[in-house]
Amino acid sequence: MKVAVLGAAGGIGQALALLLKTQLPAGSELSLYDIAPVTLGVAVDLSHIPAAVKIQGFSGEDAAPALQGAEVILISAGVARRPGMDRADLFNVNARIVCNLIEQVAQTAPKALICIITNPVNTTVAIAAEVLKKHGVYDKNRLFGVTTLDIIRANTFVAELKGKQPSEVEVPVVGGHSGVTILPLLSQVEGLSFSDEEVASLTKRIQNAGTEVVEAKAGGGSATLSMGQAAARFGLSLVRALKGDANIVECAYVEGDGEYARFFSQPLLLGKSGIAERRPVGTLSIFEQQALNSMLETLKKDIAQGEEFVKQ
Ligand SMILES: NC(=O)c1ccc[n+]([C@@H]2O[C@H](COP(=O)([O-])OP(=O)(O)OC[C@H]3O[C@@H](n4cnc5c(N)ncnc54)[C@H](O)[C@@H]3O)[C@@H](O)[C@H]2O)c1
Repeated sequence: MKVAVLGAAGGIGQALALLLKTQLPAGSELSLYDIAPVTLGVAVDLSHIPAAVKIQGFSGEDAAPALQGAEVILISAGVARRPGMDRADLFNVNARIVCNLIEQVAQTAPKALICIITNPVNTTVAIAAEVLKKHGVYDKNRLFGVTTLDIIRANTFVAELKGKQPSEVEVPVVGGHSGVTILPLLSQVEGLSFSDEEVASLTKRIQNAGTEVVEAKAGGGSATLSMGQAAARFGLSLVRALKGDANIVECAYVEGDGEYARFFSQPLLLGKSGIAERRPVGTLSIFEQQALNSMLETLKKDIAQGEEFVKQ
């Protein structure tokens, strides 16, 4: 199994690389790529950890050597938010970076499972899909926007509120990955119920949790460590599914049947070719249904921006 991290010298990339180095199955290969030359040092640093995962670092303009033979590719290359910015403010810089990297993926590892972490995810996933399409290698079962951070945050906040172990809580989060497009389905959390006030305040906190970190870091970037954990969870789920575990369900932002929007985060059964089955969002409360209806305009606009970017 070969996993590649693009943007590996960044805050997320380094945390993710550390978790993969220690948690990938023995015998796996981990390939780290970033434009920053320090990536080679990050790889050497990690190579001293006694885990049976072979690690290699690559830097410079050419990602191809890192992508060769990769089965799972996680992309966190790009700029992160500073206070006062929302995810859409990152568009101009990150759209180009994602475009460029996906071009290289299309040429070198067209069959890989591709996971986009770079924000704004609602838009960068649409960009990736269009670039892959241009190269004739788009498979909608192999492209994912990583929204796992919203899920682990929701699990943490719900566990805190209800006095549970975070590992006992699993909150499905659907929609997209910014502001009102993030929709935690609290009505579906097994064994727990919430008052209307709890639903309103938890939903708001989960939607704004990224900003909580951006403000606390006060100019030092956005979530990196929790995102590293989230991306590792998602990447390792894909690895397990590729290896034949047929029981893994994760929510991620993918192209579906277009019931709500072309791309939508929903529960997915993972398999050897990526998405084995798209699961419906299930029964929603009145609050959730209203929130879903009112996010769609924003989500569709975000998606259209990505599609337009590639056309131009
Ligand atoms: N999906 C999510 O839930 C989520 C959560 C937090 C942050 N993010 C996003 O992840 C991205 C990375 O965040 P970070 O905190 O790690 O930022 P960072 O600035 O610490 O790291 C980004 C890295 O990308 C590298 N890079 C830039 N252009 C590149 C290119 N063309 N090729 C390869 N590498 C390149 C940089 O050298 C840097 O090392 C941001 O866009 C951020 O908004 C997503």
